[in-house]
Amino acid sequence: MQRRPSAMTVSIDTQGRVAIVTIDNPPVNASSQAVRAGLLEAVTKTEDDPDVDAVVLACAGRTFVAGADVREFDLPLMEPHLPDVIAAIEAASKPWVAAIHGTALGGGLELAMGCHFRIADPMARMGLPEVNLGLVPGAGGTVRLPRLVEAELALTMIAGGKPILANVALTAGLIDAIATSDLLDEAVALAVEHAAPRRTLENAVVGASDAEAFDKTATGLRRKVRGQESIAAAIDAVGRGVRLPADEALAAERAAFLALKSSDQARALRHIFFAERATLADPRAKLTPRPLQRIGVIGGGTMGVGIVSAFLMRGFEVTLIERDEASLHAGADRVHATLDSSAKRGLLPDLDAVSARFDTAIDYAALSDADLVIEAVFEDMEVKKQVFARLDQVTKPDAILATNTSYLDVNAIAAVLSDPSRAVGLHFFSPAHVMKLLEIVLPGAVAEDVVATAAKLSKSLGKIGVLSGVCDGFIGNRIMSAYRAEADRLLIDGASPDQVDSAMRAYGFPIGVFEMQDLAGLDIAWAMRKRRLAEGKISGGYIRIADRLCEIGRFGRKTGAGWYDHVDGTALPSEVVMSIIAEERQTMEAVGKAFATEDVMPRILGAMTREAEAVLAEGIARSAEDIDVVMVNGYSFPRWKGGPMFAARSAGG
Ligand code: COA
Repeated sequence: MQRRPSAMTVSIDTQGRVAIVTIDNPPVNASSQAVRAGLLEAVTKTEDDPDVDAVVLACAGRTFVAGADVREFDLPLMEPHLPDVIAAIEAASKPWVAAIHGTALGGGLELAMGCHFRIADPMARMGLPEVNLGLVPGAGGTVRLPRLVEAELALTMIAGGKPILANVALTAGLIDAIATSDLLDEAVALAVEHAAPRRTLENAVVGASDAEAFDKTATGLRRKVRGQESIAAAIDAVGRGVRLPADEALAAERAAFLALKSSDQARALRHIFFAERATLADPRAKLTPRPLQRIGVIGGGTMGVGIVSAFLMRGFEVTLIERDEASLHAGADRVHATLDSSAKRGLLPDLDAVSARFDTAIDYAALSDADLVIEAVFEDMEVKKQVFARLDQVTKPDAILATNTSYLDVNAIAAVLSDPSRAVGLHFFSPAHVMKLLEIVLPGAVAEDVVATAAKLSKSLGKIGVLSGVCDGFIGNRIMSAYRAEADRLLIDGASPDQVDSAMRAYGFPIGVFEMQDLAGLDIAWAMRKRRLAEGKISGGYIRIADRLCEIGRFGRKTGAGWYDHVDGTALPSEVVMSIIAEERQTMEAVGKAFATEDVMPRILGAMTREAEAVLAEGIARSAEDIDVVMVNGYSFPRWKGGPMFAARSAGG
């Protein structure tokens, strides 16, 4: 192999008569200006070189090009533009083969589709996730993808933004081969095998004749748009890519991409993209973590089962503890059911190996060699303290002991240990094997390497860990309590539950606060309010509407009635509820004026941001960005609004 002088980020080597063009732009080989310029130069050089018959495009490091460089999006456009680079590769007279490993995303996949052949590592993933950044593909993705795979699949991939695995890509026609041994060697072999280029844009649209199926899929996807512009724009763009002549569709796609790039939603989505990657920028998170392999989970309820499953799916050994055989069996059955359903969806390649790492016990002694134990028992301080006291006796002295409490004082729970520095809060969100957020709650005495271990753990579980201080409800539930209370005040002031829920949905929440309570059940929050009232933690202007619903057994959907009447799966406004609201207005001597729906969201957002500012000022959250990450990932705040802090600060500025 012979090395030639070339641009730093893009280099050219040769293997026989095949040129290997390598992009090296850490961390993820984003197609920055330097990469684009280097590639264009590589096209000219390889075209001009009489000793080169074919070209392999590969990437150094962890991944193939993972997209446009998001950091360049706030800067003026810099030449050469990616569509021109891809057009030059596609027009080349010598065949180009993309050798894909890691993730070929966005501009990376567009680049690969501009190449004439594609081969991928078996673990590679490919997709056009631009909608997640408020964009549509801008370098031919909506035009080339439906010329390689079925138009409907192209539409789902682009509007959904989810990548597909190499084996799916092969079956669909996106790639020509999966490497069985060495990706680069096999890419070179493929390049040698094919004497002539094969240009994607010259293909006909795949499955173009089935316009009806395409339109049906498009209509289905449009229902999921909620307020997110980029998804609607992506559906339109693929429609043009499928129906218009390629050059017209390419021009329209680029125009749509450029228009969206500077939109408010794209800015908000970029904000949350970087905020999610900055949550663990705490010096303690960089220290050496304690080794974690054997995990104990106490409690086989919904939360415990989700936590057990989350760990098993990520390679840990887990022992589930319950207080009696019956509860243990019930919990274990639910773990197996969760694993089975994940396996059916293709998420667990080796179910038997995963199940083999799962064990159950009644005796806490089974936890003697656990590295981490998480309690997910009943939300009651005394019960949690008892569990921790027992764990203190049976576990290794350096085992980390975590509580999954969502409100209780982690300092008080830690205090029962002889060494409180090994206690931490790990607040999972339900279902724990699905939800991405993990609040890492740090009691005052926590050891620095426990913080590091929890931070690393969040990554190992594929979750976004956010550090929180100790307070009632930590970051997320504390803010949620504040806006729920405001929603109750809105009722007293004259709004109806339906009006509040509709306003929240119109803003972009998938569901409003009252519908949400009906779904989750009103009884648990009722029990908690009773406890908090007894502890004197609730005072001033307490609104009794929800308590009164519970007193007459209206616990939500499960009892057929809550904030709404639930009839055959439909939630209908309830006269009983409206009359209770009217009575409570009277009791509280509120005037209860007619309410305009547009007045609802400013009040909800105001309550959210006031509490969030307090959480920040008290040092509970490290940053406004962390609060946005929590609300977007744990509480369904619309991602394309960037989170409450971003939304408020953008509106204010
Ligand atoms: N442009 C610029 N930087 C990017 C980037 C991009 N397209 N994608 C990732 N990065 C950066 C991240 O900000 C992070 O930087 P940091 O280490 O300074 O925090 C680093 O690359 C690693 O990313 P991270 O997401 O933490 O790593 P990962 O291994 O979990 O995931 C990817 C890697 C590529 C799957 C993921 O980063 C991703 O999905 N990126 C976006 C891809 C995309 O949307 N492309 C289309 C753009 S239009």
